Amino acid sequence: MHLTKEEEKTLKGEEGETRRKAMELLVALGELDDADRLVPITSAQIAGASYKTIGDAGLDFLQEFSADAKVAVKSTLNPIGMDRENWKEMGIPESFAKPQNLILDAYRRMNIELTCSCTPYFIGNRPNAGSDIAWSESSAVVFANSVLGAHTNKEGGPSALAAAIIGKTPHCGLHIVENRKPKVAIRVGLELAFDDYTLLGHVIGRKIGQEVPLITGIDPMEDEHKALGAAMAASGAASMYLFRNDHKACEQFDTIEERIDVGEEDLDESRAKLNTSSDEVDLVAMGCPHLSVREMVDIATFLKDRTPIKRCKAWFCVARDVAKHCPEEVRILKKFGSVACDMCMVVAPLEGFSKVTATDSAKAGTYLPTLCKQKVVFATRRDLLRMISK
Ligand code: F3S
Repeated sequence: MHLTKEEEKTLKGEEGETRRKAMELLVALGELDDADRLVPITSAQIAGASYKTIGDAGLDFLQEFSADAKVAVKSTLNPIGMDRENWKEMGIPESFAKPQNLILDAYRRMNIELTCSCTPYFIGNRPNAGSDIAWSESSAVVFANSVLGAHTNKEGGPSALAAAIIGKTPHCGLHIVENRKPKVAIRVGLELAFDDYTLLGHVIGRKIGQEVPLITGIDPMEDEHKALGAAMAASGAASMYLFRNDHKACEQFDTIEERIDVGEEDLDESRAKLNTSSDEVDLVAMGCPHLSVREMVDIATFLKDRTPIKRCKAWFCVARDVAKHCPEEVRILKKFGSVACDMCMVVAPLEGFSKVTATDSAKAGTYLPTLCKQKVVFATRRDLLRMISK
């Protein structure tokens, strides 16, 4: 991999030990992926922020790393395991909150914005088409590549942090235009409702693994893209898709090697895989990925003339900066549960107080059993709202 004179100096440690370590990691990863050089990035999105997932070893690493490192580009943080303001009311123990706050302190020292959200593109980290970025939240990676047209690989937490510090990332994978061409065509032969997009993503992820698909027969809104991409990256390893409404569009790509039809029976199969319980629900959780303003309005509109049923907890997970934009909706939602800012249901210690979680997200449905020991009731958003209101 070719390095500039400046980059060589950084690698020799002439700009300090932390920048040396960050450069060393980028060079090692670049050589592994046959990168020819490093490419400047306009932003980073950094995962690995919950105490539940990184533990004491991760906290020690961040405390050491943050002693003399600052990020070189706009950098936002993924959700953590608790609401920074309401963790106590939500049942998060102090033994979790303390180290979680130390992790945030370390990221703050490095000038990383404590956005604590998996939807950075709703709150000021929205890259332009064609820009190179280094993001590590899988759902946001798919959104950035597929909807915004930015270029990013699915970074790990440490590699996104290293890229943020150096301001560059290896030029490989989806940073190269040739690698962004579709290999598989997915023909969707059915009318999709909002709740079907997460299932469609789950189906496609299962069928294609990490290839770039061209999906035809769909014309999603942003929230539907958000659900589709998150599920696709969770059930498979894809980091990007192309989409067209017209099935004939696949004739424009000579790179397509395989064609797959998706129908109602595929969605039913995914629904059956995700819905693993009929037990009494302890927690109803929405907002994986975090809710948009439009979704907050939609939920509040449905709930505003209904009465809460307090037989289980309810979480509406949302970026704090999105919640600030819809105070009236937040007021309505709070009658029915917690407006859970900063946090992700999957990296929260919810196994401490819940055995059965109901969700409308195929990504959450994929991870809740393994990461949170939950049985999952998979349902539509309307059905979740009916579980907590009458
Ligand atoms: Fe976001 Fe957590 Fe879901 S990071 S996409 S709420 S698993």
